[in-house]
Amino acid sequence: MTRSAVFDHANDAFATERDTSLDPQDWEAFRADAHRGLDMMIDYLRDVRDRKVWQPAPAEVRAEFKAPMPQQGKPLGELLETFEKSMLPYATGNTHPLFMGWVHGGGTPVGMVAEMLAAGLNSNCGGRDHIAIEVEREITLWLAEAFDFPRESSGVFVTGSSMANMIATLVARTDVLGEQVRTDGLRASRQLVGYASTEAHACIERAFEMAGVGSAFLRRIPVNEKHEMDGASLRAAIAEDRAAGLMPFVVVGSAGTVNTGAIDDLATLADICAKEDIWFHVDGAFGALGVLSPELKPLLNGLERADSVALDFHKWLQVPYDAGFFICRHPDLHRQTFMSTAAYLSRAPRGLAAADIWPCDLGPDLSRGFRALKTWFTFQSFGAERLGAILAQTCGVARHLEALIRRSVIFELSADVTLNIVCFSVKGDTTGRINREIVMDLHESGGAAPSTTKIGGRPVIRAAIVNHRTQTRDMEAFVAAAEACAARIMAGRAAPGAP
Ligand SMILES: Cc1ncc(COP(=O)(O)O)c(C=O)c1O
Repeated sequence: MTRSAVFDHANDAFATERDTSLDPQDWEAFRADAHRGLDMMIDYLRDVRDRKVWQPAPAEVRAEFKAPMPQQGKPLGELLETFEKSMLPYATGNTHPLFMGWVHGGGTPVGMVAEMLAAGLNSNCGGRDHIAIEVEREITLWLAEAFDFPRESSGVFVTGSSMANMIATLVARTDVLGEQVRTDGLRASRQLVGYASTEAHACIERAFEMAGVGSAFLRRIPVNEKHEMDGASLRAAIAEDRAAGLMPFVVVGSAGTVNTGAIDDLATLADICAKEDIWFHVDGAFGALGVLSPELKPLLNGLERADSVALDFHKWLQVPYDAGFFICRHPDLHRQTFMSTAAYLSRAPRGLAAADIWPCDLGPDLSRGFRALKTWFTFQSFGAERLGAILAQTCGVARHLEALIRRSVIFELSADVTLNIVCFSVKGDTTGRINREIVMDLHESGGAAPSTTKIGGRPVIRAAIVNHRTQTRDMEAFVAAAEACAARIMAGRAAPGAP
């Protein structure tokens, strides 16, 4: 039992008392266990290619997680064993090079270590005067530089782009209705209306719902054959809404749509917004960081004119989950949207409660972790040039996959390949049933994990190459496995191991 010296006020002397904290009683034993946990994860990442991409947790493993709340503690070593046996094998799989589903980043060992360091500091990054806040500000500066935004732009880490797009909707609302909307609500104003393409992410709709605008007032503007928002239709929709007495307040451009990776013509959207005096927000969840690649940057022409951008470091930049970000070129409007005057958040001229702007002034979160650290480690460890090269590399892998699909006798492309997303389909699969079956079979085989989406209303196979570990040779294996599944399904045979 550890005894520690504590100050005894009554006797004005030090007395000993049992250490009741949750810290280890035996630090050296803890150190050994902790190193074992770190080694386990280093091996896990080193040997990622040797494992299946994904496998479902068996019923008996799931049952382990239905146990009652433990009333007594267990040794850390025992918990590590449970983690290794019952969790490690059944993860999402997005660290694996053949995971190509949705838009999931691969993470890095460096990011993992940074996450552990952040947990050790246990900083609350809602505000106050400490170094984590400086790190977050430095990343805002780096982004402002990368986007050609003003240096005084404001930025805040959030969970992901869903949250960042919601913040954008709220700041745009402040822009058009003033800070007063926070107290008065929307009742007194004319109906707000905003615009995004039919390909924009569904979280924009949810942002409109949560902001009280209503998703019925998000106009879905049609796209051209490259899946980019059609400028003429946008102009017409704005004119029509103004004529009907509505109040246009935001245009959301997409820099990398979730379905196909298409990038809206951001320069044209910026022109339209400037002329119409409407907030121009860019959902750059994964595409905005393309500015780090000299090859990709020209595709994002016009991003530098956005009023705000939503993006995720946890996607293409490989920072471990979660690390979304919102950046805004109008710091005053940004702050006016969220700042609170609560007494317990008041600022002091000096001491820990000093500093002018706190992150809690820039978003809905108060308590928040040190997401900036893993992002800072990622930039510092690899450098922006190498990270930019990784983005271009994933696009190269996607182009290789595109070439394989073009050569395939079974598959055909379903959309142009702009960045790192390849959508394809079994030729003649008019309902998309075979495409969906192939994806499920691939998942269950553990060989590859693409996902599906709908193009022209039909389910197609979608491979998003986001992971820095994915190589062109992986695409040969992926297409061969997908073709084998297709042949089996079309011949009416069950997948190996199917019940
Ligand atoms: C274009 C786009 N916008 C928004 C989102 C939502 O981002 P998050 O999942 O980080 O909330 C995604 C997610 O894939 C996306 O691709």
